[in-house]
Amino acid sequence: MTVATDPVTIMKQEVGKAAASRVQSGSIVGLGTGSTTAYAIQFIGDRLQSGDLKEISGIPTSFQAEVLAKKYGIPLTTLDAVDRIDVAIDGADEVDPNFNLIKGGGAAHTREKVVDALAEQFIVVVDSGKLTDRLGSTFLLPVEVIPMAITPAMRAIEKLGGKPELRMGVKKAGPVVTDQGNLVIDVKFDAIDDPAGLEKTLNNIPGVLENGLFVGVADVVLVGEIKDGQPTVREL
Ligand code: 5RP
Repeated sequence: MTVATDPVTIMKQEVGKAAASRVQSGSIVGLGTGSTTAYAIQFIGDRLQSGDLKEISGIPTSFQAEVLAKKYGIPLTTLDAVDRIDVAIDGADEVDPNFNLIKGGGAAHTREKVVDALAEQFIVVVDSGKLTDRLGSTFLLPVEVIPMAITPAMRAIEKLGGKPELRMGVKKAGPVVTDQGNLVIDVKFDAIDDPAGLEKTLNNIPGVLENGLFVGVADVVLVGEIKDGQPTVREL
């Protein structure tokens, strides 16, 4: 692994490593998406290679997680082949004091919710910049929508008081297309006072597949921090 000097990268590496160290041999592991989870996947691979960890199977939450798992030698399985997920490790874009999350910065929240919600234990890995008193304060809420429903879904979101924006690709012309072939609307809400209610209301809009509110899903939140110039990991 390259030696990082940027504090955010150092926090992500440390918290990824801390989560990876909690995985036990024989486990079925949900592999999340994003730059923080990428370090967890890498460290799980390192533990397998050193013999410290044995007989695990990963369930990827995205094409990115699948590619990384293959790169680091983590055997993969599917939800059709297993009857449980022991632990899932995944990042988040915002975490509130009740462990409710906004996810979907990587447009992978639909599969992430399936895997993270099924896990016996869902460990969230974030750097300290992701902690917020109220969801939606800094991050727009991602909503995955099937392409033919994009215009009515945006209108319906506006009626709920949200300001929707179609997510556009970076280094790719046109909109972001998810691993399922759908589009993502990022929504600014002035205040998300009732995350559980909003999660259900958004998912009730015809054509909406899933939104990035994860309410009551996280079991453990690990936070990477820099204290007195040293990286540390705190469990909330
Ligand atoms: C992807 C996600 C990510 O977990 C979330 O965006 C955090 O990513 P990162 O660790 O790169 O900050 O929800 O859909």
